[in-house]
Amino acid sequence: MNIVLTGFMATGKTEISRAIAEMSQYKLVDTDDMVTSKLGMSVNEIFEKYGEKYFRDAEREAVKEAAAMNNAVIATGGGVVMDKENIKALRETGMIFNLSPDFSVIRERLESAKKTRPLLRKDSIDDIEKRFNDRQPMYDDCDCKIKIINGRTPRSYAIEILKIASGK
Ligand code: S3P
Repeated sequence: MNIVLTGFMATGKTEISRAIAEMSQYKLVDTDDMVTSKLGMSVNEIFEKYGEKYFRDAEREAVKEAAAMNNAVIATGGGVVMDKENIKALRETGMIFNLSPDFSVIRERLESAKKTRPLLRKDSIDDIEKRFNDRQPMYDDCDCKIKIINGRTPRSYAIEILKIASGK
């Protein structure tokens, strides 16, 4: 079984998946990393050169590959949930945990988060909040919600998620 982390940009998917992999036998997989290493470009470069659709197609392939693994902790890109097929594939082999903060948490993390994320770079704060709200029903399509607040360590979330995944 896999552990799948979904959530908006800057919710901590990467850090928490790393903490889970460090503390367990789960192998670390990150769909953004799969796409960027396959294409040899950063996410920013892919969006600039080829556009979002090209990125989403590559992301769908990465999701398929990730879902075919076993005992992996899969950090997904924030937009993976927009395609129902992605979630269906990930759910067949994994338990989906949605990292769920209030928007105020994202707002506080925005400046550093902007560097690597094309969808945060150009949008106004209102547009980012709208995207966050629009995506909520898709993030709700999960097996377990993990409330994200400021001040908790990735390790503490990892412990919580591993406990739930093991059924204890
Ligand atoms: C995106 C999130 C990013 C990355 C791309 C698009 C999104 O991943 O896949 O910039 O649409 O929410 P992170 O959630 O890891 O930042």
